[in-house]
Amino acid sequence: MLQYSSNEGDLVCDMFLGGFSTARAAIGLNRRATGFEISGPIFDLRVRELRGIKPGCLLQSLRTPLTERPKNQGRPWTDSDRRALVSRFAILIESGSTKKAAIERLGREFGRGRWSIEKMLKREGILPPRQKAQGSRPG
Ligand SMILES: C[S@@+](CC[C@H](N)C(=O)[O-])C[C@H]1O[C@@H](n2cnc3c(N)ncnc32)[C@H](O)[C@@H]1O
Repeated sequence: MLQYSSNEGDLVCDMFLGGFSTARAAIGLNRRATGFEISGPIFDLRVRELRGIKPGCLLQSLRTPLTERPKNQGRPWTDSDRRALVSRFAILIESGSTKKAAIERLGREFGRGRWSIEKMLKREGILPPRQKAQGSRPG
């Protein structure tokens, strides 16, 4: 969010500093940080820790966003694409791949984003649909 909504040197204000993670990230991304924390002891503790953070220290570890969009993004899936996807997924899992690694690899193979692969595997009944949050009702 900080990268998306601010530039280096900007002042980031967190109205509820709490654990100061926003302030830490802001300084690590070479922004300035300010804000409020109602608890004096928490503020004193965290502000001391904050002084140890080197401005911009997170900048080198940032991942570069993908600039090329997957070549088949937005293209409708054909029946043969779907069959090939299901079969490749089964092969990768049988050969010991994790679901996550298999999905990433299939994204590259099929020229599609990870979400598109996951959505299709769910639609084909290979991956379970997303679970709705369970609530309990009294009585
Ligand atoms: C969930 S934490 C915030 C986490 C923080 N934004 C971060 O990046 O780590 C919420 C904090 O808001 C503080 N707080 C609650 N009411 C407040 C108020 N009226 N003014 C300032 N701080 C407040 C609480 O003491 C608590 O530490």
